[in-house]
Amino acid sequence: MTPADSVTPADSVTSAHSVSTAESPVPAGDATPWAIHTHRLTKLFGKQRVVDAIDLNVPQGAVYGFLGPNGSGKTTTIRMLLGLIRPTGGSATVLGQSVGHGDARILGRVGALVEGPAFHPYLSGHDNLVRIDAADLNADPATCRSRVDAALERVGLSAAARKRYRAYSLGMRQRLGIAAALLQPRDLLVLDEPTNGLDPQGTREVRALLSDLNADGVSILVSSHLLSEVEQICSHVGMMRTGELVSQGPLAEVRSSARPRITVLTGDPAGAETVLTEHRVHDVSPTDGGVTGLLEEDLEPEALVAALVHAGVGVRGFELARPSLEDLFIAQTGEGFDVSG
Ligand SMILES: Nc1ncnc2c1ncn2[C@@H]1O[C@H](COP(=O)(O)OP(=O)(O)OP(=O)(O)O)[C@@H](O)[C@H]1O
Ligand SMILES: [Mg+2]
Repeated sequence: MTPADSVTPADSVTSAHSVSTAESPVPAGDATPWAIHTHRLTKLFGKQRVVDAIDLNVPQGAVYGFLGPNGSGKTTTIRMLLGLIRPTGGSATVLGQSVGHGDARILGRVGALVEGPAFHPYLSGHDNLVRIDAADLNADPATCRSRVDAALERVGLSAAARKRYRAYSLGMRQRLGIAAALLQPRDLLVLDEPTNGLDPQGTREVRALLSDLNADGVSILVSSHLLSEVEQICSHVGMMRTGELVSQGPLAEVRSSARPRITVLTGDPAGAETVLTEHRVHDVSPTDGGVTGLLEEDLEPEALVAALVHAGVGVRGFELARPSLEDLFIAQTGEGFDVSG
């Protein structure tokens, strides 16, 4: 199943308001189309509302990019989804099963990578996986070796399999964490910042790996504070800001809800800025060789070029770009993405 096949009618872009008030779109008793579904899931640490009544909808078959700046509540949400911490309020289902009811069959179908997996520093990567596999009651000990070798191969760690974990680089540790999540065939992978610490080549490899797994029918929730990194592989995105889910839905719909970005290359940036601002171009700012801003939806780019020329602003170049998720985040929250919660 491709991600596109899995999009359901209920699956549209939601604003912060509708996210926090929407009722479950899945009637009770129905076979759920959701790999993950939460209803007003909330976590307080002391008085701090770290996750604030979020309704997360991850369709089966999706690669869902769970995005947000540092401290916005991604890891806390993931820990609740995996039953590692208890929610203060709200509820969550994973593969149709309520979280917290400890169904081992469901847990066996979910592979997870969360911050700081507990590996033994003096054992090799290979032996660490053997230990983890041995602790899995659903795993047949007779086939342990082949499972471990296949998982190491899949994440590109075969050559370093016999090296001690403490001698692994951060990127190698991340890969081993992903390998541990892949010891069993999974229906759902929940990966918290899987590319953290990886070099560009490693990041590309993880992206390709996730795409392959998804093509095999695995639903994936992958968190990141780097928007551009996951934008390339996600079918769906959800954006967190200080504990709130400010937007979620299919990537194309989320993108189309944002204004396109225009860039004018000119020797007269001040003149261009004046004209753009007069024509309701938002967030106008200087860029290398000109100015850039976000176009109002009903404004024709041709009309803007004509207005610039009419005002005597020399135009060397004019670009109209699809808005990035970062543009969308800024448009929705009025803040840069790299804010700290
Ligand atoms: N055990 C805890 N006790 C108290 N506060 C916590 C605890 N865990 C997390 N927090 C706070 O909750 C907020 C959200 O943290 P969380 O780790 O969920 O963010 P995140 O989105 O995963 O960030 P990052 O991108 O840096 O991984 C932060 O302000 C953090 O300090
Ligand atoms: Mg985190």
